[in-house]
Amino acid sequence: MNRKDFVATLGLGSSAIWATGCGSSRQSKDELPVFDSNAPSRFWAFVRKSYSLTPDRVYLNCGGLGPAPKIVTDAVAEKSAELQRISETGHALMDVAREVVARYLGIGLDSICFTRNATESNSIIAAGLDLKRGDEVIFESHAHPGGSLPWLSRSKHDGIRVKVFEPDPHSQEGNLNRIESLITPRTRVIQVSHITAPTGILMDVKAIARLARSKGIWFHIDGAQSAGMIPINLSEIGCDSYATSGHKWMGGPRGTGILCIDPERVDEVDATHVGGHSSASYTLPDNIVFLPGARRYEYGTRNTELVEGLRVAVDFQTRIGVERIEAYGSSLVDQLYQELEAIDSISVLTPSDPNMRRSIITFKSSKVSFDPFNNALSRDYKLRCRRVTEQGLNAVRVSPHIYNSPEECARVVEAVKEIVSRA
Ligand SMILES: Cc1ncc(COP(=O)(O)O)c(C=O)c1O
Repeated sequence: MNRKDFVATLGLGSSAIWATGCGSSRQSKDELPVFDSNAPSRFWAFVRKSYSLTPDRVYLNCGGLGPAPKIVTDAVAEKSAELQRISETGHALMDVAREVVARYLGIGLDSICFTRNATESNSIIAAGLDLKRGDEVIFESHAHPGGSLPWLSRSKHDGIRVKVFEPDPHSQEGNLNRIESLITPRTRVIQVSHITAPTGILMDVKAIARLARSKGIWFHIDGAQSAGMIPINLSEIGCDSYATSGHKWMGGPRGTGILCIDPERVDEVDATHVGGHSSASYTLPDNIVFLPGARRYEYGTRNTELVEGLRVAVDFQTRIGVERIEAYGSSLVDQLYQELEAIDSISVLTPSDPNMRRSIITFKSSKVSFDPFNNALSRDYKLRCRRVTEQGLNAVRVSPHIYNSPEECARVVEAVKEIVSRA
């Protein structure tokens, strides 16, 4: 950084220097090859090389935590060192990333708030909506604790009523009917996981948004398992709010999350935690004018190099192509689905309809319990999957992403066959 740049960075509004300095040389170094549909494995092998994942095991738990590509971890390290050298917060980086993320999610700048994880994003909604004792919130029984606990806390403190429905793995209409049957005049919020974490059921969020809108009910999507796995266009979906993690399918750094709120409705979500960077103006003792849009929830000093890393992660995914990512993940799960279903004693809990699933597959065996099964996969075959204990499902989840290959999925199938056959 030269002297002119340094002087410019001393002002808080000087975003352009930090914005443009980040990663342009890295990106040319990491230029992806042209995708050739006749030889796709070359392209995906290149993508795989973009990660520092150890070859000692196969990582198949993106639903738990997504590895960040090297381009992202490098960007974070470089930006962190740069900010430390000048001892600045780099807060303006948030607005640079906001533009990129807004485009990626199909929504305007005023909708985006950067958080630290999906749980925090869900919590801002659950804590901020004006709910009275006896008001009702509906969500699916497979909700992750990061999606359910914020409402349970609200129930404990404010007496709201939580109503849950069992997600239907067979039919979108089934899910819609189950939600509709729980709606009463006291229903204030419907929340669903866009893609459920335990078994990977893809919800028809557009239809649920229409239903919620027709009844004047707030519709919140927990998208921790969707952004980065499938293309997201929030303007088309028509929800009121959407939460996601940066550190799963998007490949962002750990400790990044996003909350999107319809800017027309943002004033309905009380900003319970506020401070520096929340207000357009304030005067003591009693006046505060919040910033327009969802920025108001980004209070205080932040680890902005992480948000910069998330920006680079989004750029990486965009260059691969979000539709291509979706199709690739689906093809890996289709392969797993067909081969696992055919194994004696294995039942797949993930929807059989490819339109209701994407890049998560969960199965169980009637011969070997989920815990020893998962341990055997990890210990004997070096396959890092995840146990699914939620709601007593007692199963094993495989969640492959862009750094995995059909060969690795074939290894899963072979391992499952062997584990079952020696039981
Ligand atoms: C649907 C869902 N919501 C929320 C979370 C929590 O995510 P985070 O750790 O980013 O808060 C997860 C994590 O697996 C999840 O699957």
